[in-house]
Amino acid sequence: MKNYFSIQDIDSLPDWVSEARQLKGSPTSQKQLGVGKTLCLLFFNNSLRTRLSTQKAAMNLGMEVMVMNFGNEGWALEYGDGTVMDQGTSEHIKEAAQVVSQYCDIVAIRAFAGLKDKAKDEAEEVLNGFISYASVSVVNMESSIGHPLQALADAITLAEHQGPNRETDSQENKTDDKPGKSEQGQQSGARRKPKIVLSWAPHPKALPHAVANSFVEMMRRQDAEFVITHPKGYELNPEITGDVPIEYNQKKACENADFVYAKNWSSYSDYGKVLHQNSDWMMTQEKLGAAKFMHCLPVRRNVVVEDAVLDSGQSLVIEQANNRTYAAQVVLKKLLENMR
Ligand code: CP
Repeated sequence: MKNYFSIQDIDSLPDWVSEARQLKGSPTSQKQLGVGKTLCLLFFNNSLRTRLSTQKAAMNLGMEVMVMNFGNEGWALEYGDGTVMDQGTSEHIKEAAQVVSQYCDIVAIRAFAGLKDKAKDEAEEVLNGFISYASVSVVNMESSIGHPLQALADAITLAEHQGPNRETDSQENKTDDKPGKSEQGQQSGARRKPKIVLSWAPHPKALPHAVANSFVEMMRRQDAEFVITHPKGYELNPEITGDVPIEYNQKKACENADFVYAKNWSSYSDYGKVLHQNSDWMMTQEKLGAAKFMHCLPVRRNVVVEDAVLDSGQSLVIEQANNRTYAAQVVLKKLLENMR
């Protein structure tokens, strides 16, 4: 693996989750691996968890870390080929990516969707620009269309709570190569598949699709009963959701769920628009029932989810945030191993 751009770069999700859990048990056991190596974090957008957990992961591996808020401290970048740069942009991605590569061994980048131009966002010009012109490995810390570090942390959290990514699945999967089976293998014996619901939730601002997209991609590789629920008009990119069932009745979708993952996203078909802010879609204790609650954070209390849920023992949000470190650590470890 040269870069970690999306969930598709994970060759075996059960194995990566298992490895991340081992690192969690002994975070500095691989401290020699990153000695003499430097990680550069470039932020075009704000962050709390991603910034600190990725630094922590690198430090656990013995790496040096440099951080730059590129969005407001770097030169405005030009991405177009052959552009006459006599307007707002000062530096071309060709030079910027090559220059950054002189100072580090891995560059991790956060660059959100602008939500104005679907084609431009889907071109992923920042991440793809760095992948094209950097000579070092590139890690996605949330791009226009994906947040694969978050989805890997979510997979770890699910596994820890007896979701589909339990470690025994890895063994089942290795001995079972029948076509049509998910990566996690089929259920055996009495254990039923966990029911996992991704629920749209209200939010006052237009938010990107990245977290939801990567969670869907990760869930499609798991042996779970997975359902997406949202109001009509909030369908995600059908190329990402594929054959995942969509239930427009949120209460019905949440019935008998084991895990409910709440997240807001703006419309994909009416690109980047907030179609409504229906507070009926806020996640409540009543709708959650006995399920565990998940959210990537930051979360707006009593808009996305009511206090009673976040303050209850059913909330996994702090564990998800903790697992961001081990998701990042397993990614960095694999990239470092690839350099040896
Ligand atoms: N979940 C997440 O990526 O958090 P930050 O935006 O704070 O990094």
